[in-house]
This record gives sequence, C-alpha cells and structure tokens, in this order.
Amino acid sequence: MTTQTRRWHVFPDADALQREAVRRIGEIAESALSRRNGFYIVLAGGTTPRLIYEALAGTAQQWSQWHVFFGDERCLPADHADRNSVMADQAWLQHVPIPETHIHPIPAERGPTEGALAYAQELRGVSDFDLVLLGLGEDGHTASLFPGQDWGASLTSPDVLPVWDAPKPPPERISLSAQRLARAREVLYLVTGASKQEAVARWKHGEVLPAGAIAPPGGVDIFVDPDAS
Ligand code: 6PG
Repeated sequence: MTTQTRRWHVFPDADALQREAVRRIGEIAESALSRRNGFYIVLAGGTTPRLIYEALAGTAQQWSQWHVFFGDERCLPADHADRNSVMADQAWLQHVPIPETHIHPIPAERGPTEGALAYAQELRGVSDFDLVLLGLGEDGHTASLFPGQDWGASLTSPDVLPVWDAPKPPPERISLSAQRLARAREVLYLVTGASKQEAVARWKHGEVLPAGAIAPPGGVDIFVDPDAS
C-alpha cells in the first residue's frame, strides 16, 4: 500500500474548522476551474459535514461548473432520511444552481452489488477528482471502508465496492475504493468531536486503518478540532 502523506491542521474550535473548510473548498474549486472546465468533488457522508454543506449553500461559486459525487452511500431508499445524498441535498445541493445532471448520487437503493456496478459505470467517464472530502469513524473507518474488510487499496482494485456487514448501520453500503478515492488532486478529512480522539491517535501513530489507506500523490489534509485531536 502506498504511504500516506498526512498534514494535520488543528483548529481552535469546530466553528473555525468549518469556516476554513468552506474557504478551502471554494479556493480549490476556483483553482480547478482555472485549469479545466468543471470542478469534480466527492462528498463525505455522516453528520460532520452538514454544517459545512449548509455554509457552502450560502457562498457564491461557479455552481454550473460543479460536478458532485459521493464517497459512499447507505443501501436505503433514495429518499430515506439516513441517506448521505439526502443530507447533502437538504443542507446544500437543493439550495444552489448545480445542474441536476451534475449531481451523481450512488444508486444504493439498488443494493450493494447492483448499485456498485452501476456507479462504477458512471465513474468510467470521470478522470481524477479535484477534491475528495472524507470523514473519520471512531474505529478508523472512512467512507464505507471498515477495518477487517476489503478497502480496495491496490491499483487493480475496482473503483466502487459493495459493502456487507458494515459495523456502522446500515450493514449494506456502497463505497468508493481507497484507490479511487486517492485519484484526487486534494483529499480533505473533516474530523470533529471527542469520539474521534482514539481513532486520530491510532492514525497518527501509524496504525494501519482505512483512513490511512487513502494515499493520493499530493498527500492528505486533515482538519481536526481540539476535541478530536
Ligand atoms: C457514513 C460516512 C462515514 C462517516 C464517518 C463519520 O456513511 O457514515 O460516510 O464514513 O463519514 O462514520 O461520521 P460522522 O461524521 O457522523 O461522525
């Protein structure tokens, strides 16, 4: 597995982290759009990003040029409140003029195998991402790559993985693989809350964790608040 270059950024509080995350995302988007048509971003799921997504909804971006993908999804009905896509829609995407055809939810309602195949097909025409946002689970998971399961870290791994028996409910999920998540110019982890302290410590000390398996050429930036660091 390629070695992950990590840059830790500890913020005075969660608000400061969120403000900088919004600023940085806008900056990366602007830089991407100065190089090519289209800004390709992968969204993190869970609860941590919600406030950042809500704040992004209030910013001025070249939204028509944004293309939105998801790092993972829970195998629930498309409109289920626990879907990562529903959280992102409600907090942000339905409030900004990103063209519907530029938003690519994972069809996880079709189940792990069928949904993963369909999303892999959708990603075939997509080159490296400009930005991948990721969270960190208490056990060191990221996206839906969990300890003890296949993280898809080899270059020959599929782009999209079906997930069964996930320790974080629901058990059935779909995740981009570690190798596909690493095909990105920038990877930014957003980590807040005391519940992540142990996972951060283990990650810092070099324990082999899913969060440490994402190794893009440019390294990863990890935003942590005091409670998590
Ligand atoms: C999910 C997420 C998962 C999440 C972490 C952190 O579907 O649950 O993709 O990887 O990012 O578990 O979750 P919180 O932000 O809710 O702590």
